[in-house]
Amino acid sequence: MKSIRKNKPVLVISSGAGISAESGIRTFRDADGLWENYPVMDVASADGFRRDPELVHRFYNERRRQLIEAQPNEAHRILVELEEDYDVYVITQNVDDLHERAGSSRVLHLHGELMKIRSVSDPDYIESLDIEHLETSPATRGKRGDLMRPHIVFFQEPVPMIEEAARIVSKADIFVVIGTSLVVYPAAGLLQCVRPGTPIYYIDPRPASTHGIPNVTVIQKTASQGLRELVGILEKDRK
Ligand code: APR
Repeated sequence: MKSIRKNKPVLVISSGAGISAESGIRTFRDADGLWENYPVMDVASADGFRRDPELVHRFYNERRRQLIEAQPNEAHRILVELEEDYDVYVITQNVDDLHERAGSSRVLHLHGELMKIRSVSDPDYIESLDIEHLETSPATRGKRGDLMRPHIVFFQEPVPMIEEAARIVSKADIFVVIGTSLVVYPAAGLLQCVRPGTPIYYIDPRPASTHGIPNVTVIQKTASQGLRELVGILEKDRK
């Protein structure tokens, strides 16, 4: 039986593509890039989708096929284990569902979800995709005939969940940033949303500069190695 601690400290995680790297999903800014030789703005921008929706659906179907083959890794699992002692909130820039498949209870997707599509004309109409869909069609039309688009925040589009994410980060007793190059806003700006004095840990093997941001401890390791180290630090702090 899991120990149900009352008023657990709030642990907020902000994860980027790096946490899925050990599951075999390439990050965006690695040398061999994620974009499978497609020009980014052709497949991940609002203009690109308007120009050629079929190309965009084919690109995202390739990524869905990769995702279906991938499994959550140890880093995802450690975040689930931390729920025993902390109120854990995961805010992710990733569109994969590996946090959910690992068992995280609270996951907020800032940039959308790969396995969902939504109606172009009625954005509240969302369908979840499964492997059968991927085999039959690039999912350009939904079940009721609407032209559909990936339920992804394209470049040039606003990030609807950023206010909710900032609210969650402002509640953090501990803020942990994992596997992101901190180059894409507004996600990268979440570092400014912690309450003064909140400890921040940044886990990344090639960390971006956090110059000027107080209370940051950089753990220059991969997500799983870095989280193992962080668990040790947190256990020591709790004693
Ligand atoms: N463990 C942890 N971090 C890793 C690992 C690993 N095994 N391997 C690579 N990284 C780090 C890299 O050092 C880099 O800092 O992951 C980060 C990946 O950075 P990006 O590729 O820029 O991914 P991300 O920061 O999530 O991109 C943000 O940009 O392209 C858009 O919308 C897209 O959500 C994406 C956003």
